[in-house]
Amino acid sequence: MAQRAGLGPGQLEVWAILLFLGLFQSGMAARCGIIIQARITGGNSANPSQWPWQVSITYDGVHVCGGSLVSEQWVLSAAHCFPREHYKEDYEVKLGAHQLDTFSSDTVVRTVAEVISHPSYRQEGSQGDIALLRLNSPITFSRSIQPICLPAANASFPNGLNCTVTGWGHVAPSVSLQSPRPLQQLEVPLISRETCSCLYNINAKPAEPHTIQQDMLCAGYVKGGKDACQGDSGGPLSCPVEGLWYLAGIVSWGDACGAPNRPGVYTMTSSYASWIHHHVAELQPRVVPQTLESQPDSHLCNKGNLAFNSAPAQGLLRPNLLLPLALSLVLFCPWHEH
Ligand SMILES: *[C@@H]1O[C@H](CO)[C@@H](O)[C@H](O)[C@H]1NC(C)=O
Ligand SMILES: *[C@@H]1O[C@H](CO)[C@@H](O)[C@H](O)[C@H]1NC(C)=O
Repeated sequence: MAQRAGLGPGQLEVWAILLFLGLFQSGMAARCGIIIQARITGGNSANPSQWPWQVSITYDGVHVCGGSLVSEQWVLSAAHCFPREHYKEDYEVKLGAHQLDTFSSDTVVRTVAEVISHPSYRQEGSQGDIALLRLNSPITFSRSIQPICLPAANASFPNGLNCTVTGWGHVAPSVSLQSPRPLQQLEVPLISRETCSCLYNINAKPAEPHTIQQDMLCAGYVKGGKDACQGDSGGPLSCPVEGLWYLAGIVSWGDACGAPNRPGVYTMTSSYASWIHHHVAELQPRVVPQTLESQPDSHLCNKGNLAFNSAPAQGLLRPNLLLPLALSLVLFCPWHEH
């Protein structure tokens, strides 16, 4: 039931105005996060050029992770996409792509000149799941290749804000996206870290502690069913504030995508604003206007979901419980394809 909105003359005008305002406000280099097309609501496949900062990262020619373009030469992704034993020469970054299996003249491929993983990243679930990639040469922005805005260190995105996660990852655990692999998008509301920790403590396995660290952000649905399994690791959680899109989070990990009480967990980009700026002086995180008050959301964990809380006591044969059980193999796996 996707409402497909083409790029009509009205939207071109809006784009031109936004572009002009962007240039006027901040100079050429800082132009970022500009909406080019209206969003699809309720659809799964994105429109071409709808998320022009989304990149595909390949290893040995195979798509493994997503990433976000933040300037002419830099991409942000997740540290776990770049294990120490991998050579940077074996990675490539595809920009401007829509369907991964279809040739398009909008697509540009770059090799990776440098990978800077955050030093505090150790293993799955640890802090610092963020990496900077320098492309071998700068790219020229186009309608299908644009950077997203980096949020400043003091940015805070309110609970309940509807953001969008995008990627070419699995559409369900161990179900890969079907050819021609169009970019998938999913709207997910932000959940506070406290509430997210509370949710992850429901039916938690003591052997597999899931700690929501200070540098993590959660988004998704308490009920499950819709999750960022659809977005690859390293890809963007894009949040709109006053007409600009910000990279609020980087797809990091989750517990059995789509399971109840297990929202997607993202690296909070704003936590790394100074680390990013330290490594790439020209990357200027942008102050995010405070427009909405953050509403308390503890009810999402305490009483609203008692049904999910008590589900295991009601017998293991209910079909909705088979899902999390069947998925236990992918528990706590970072979301990238192998
Ligand atoms: C963030 O810092 C900037 C200046 O660096 C300031 O103008 C802005 O008000 C701050 N925002 C918040 C939410 O504190
Ligand atoms: C987010 O989207 C949902 C469903 O479309 C809507 O009910 C809710 O009000 C939105 N939240 C905000 C903060 O706009």
